[in-house]
Amino acid sequence: MTNALSFDDWVRAHGQRTELALESLLDSAATNPIRLHEAMRYAAQGGGKRIRPLLVYAAGELAQTSNQASQTALDAAAVAIECIHAYSLVHDDLPCMDDDDLRRGRPTVHKAFDEATALLVGDALQTRAFEILANAPCDAQVRLAMISILASASGSRGMAGGQAIDLESVGKKLDLAGLKQMHAMKTGALLSCSVALGGIIAQLNPSQMQHLANYSEALGLAFQIVDDVLDATADSQTLGKTAGKDAANDKPTYVTLMGLDYAKKAAKDLQETAIASLEGFGDKARALQDLALLVVNRGK
Ligand code: IPE
Ligand code: IPE
Ligand code: MG
Ligand code: MG
Ligand code: MG
Repeated sequence: MTNALSFDDWVRAHGQRTELALESLLDSAATNPIRLHEAMRYAAQGGGKRIRPLLVYAAGELAQTSNQASQTALDAAAVAIECIHAYSLVHDDLPCMDDDDLRRGRPTVHKAFDEATALLVGDALQTRAFEILANAPCDAQVRLAMISILASASGSRGMAGGQAIDLESVGKKLDLAGLKQMHAMKTGALLSCSVALGGIIAQLNPSQMQHLANYSEALGLAFQIVDDVLDATADSQTLGKTAGKDAANDKPTYVTLMGLDYAKKAAKDLQETAIASLEGFGDKARALQDLALLVVNRGK
C-alpha cells in the first residue's frame, strides 16, 4: 500500500478500480442478447462491498516488482472472482435455494428479470470469469494456475459443494466441525482464491503462498461467521438483503449452533490468527491486515 494513502483511501481507490475494470471487461448492455447482458450487468455492477477484488489487489501488493502487465492481470483476476461471486449470489437467491427478494439493496435478479434469466446470468458470469483469466496478459503458466485455482474454488469441492451442504443441512443440527467445513467451502473457498490469485500474479514462492493460505483460511471462516451474526442482529436496510433469513429458513449457522457471544468471539480470534499469519511480509501486507480488521468489524 502506498504509505501516503490511508486505508479508507486505499479501499476507495481500489473499489473504483474494480468498478472501472468490471465496466471494461463485461459486455455492454447493447450486446445481443440484450436482456441477458442487462441482467448480467445488474447482477455484477449493482454495488456490493467488493471484498474479493480488494483481497486480490491487496495480495498483489506483496510483489517485489510491478509493471503494467501485472496490474492489468490483477484487474482481470479481480473481475473474474467478482463474476463468480455475483453468480453465486444470483443462484443463492433463487426460490429453489434461499428464496430471497432483496440483494445489495435492490430486487434480486429473478425478481427484477425472471428465474430463467437469473439461471442464465449465473451460467454466463461463470464462463465469462474463465474467459477473462484465459485472456489476462501473463505467461501461459500463470494463466493456467489462475484458471485451475478458480475452477476448484468454485466447483463441487469449493463454493458449489458448500452450497450443496448448506441446502442438505436445512433443519438439521450440524456439529461444529461440519459447520466449519460448510463455511470453508461455500464462502472460504472464494475468499482464499482471491488472495491466492493476487499471490500468483505477485509470483510469491510456495512458503509465502502457504502463509497467505493460512491468512485466508482464517479470514474466510471469520467472514461467514460475521455474515451469520449480522443476519441475526442487523436490519434489512443496513444489510441490503433480508435480515433474519437464516432463522426463517432453519439454516444451521454459528449463531444458531453456538450462540451470538461465541460466534463474535470466534470471529475475533480468527481475525487475530489471520493477521498473525502475515508477520513475515512486513509493511507490504498492510492492506491485507486492514482488510481482516474491516471484515470482522463491519456492521459494528
Ligand atoms: C455475501 O457476500 C455472501 C457470502 C458469501 C456471505 P458479501 O457479503 O461479500 O456480499 P456483497 O458482495 O458485499 O454483496
Ligand atoms: C451464501 O451464504 C454463500 C454463497 C456462496 C453465495 P448465505 O446464503 O448466507 O449468503 P447471503 O446471506 O444470502 O448473502
Ligand atoms: Mg445461502
Ligand atoms: Mg442466502
Ligand atoms: Mg447469510
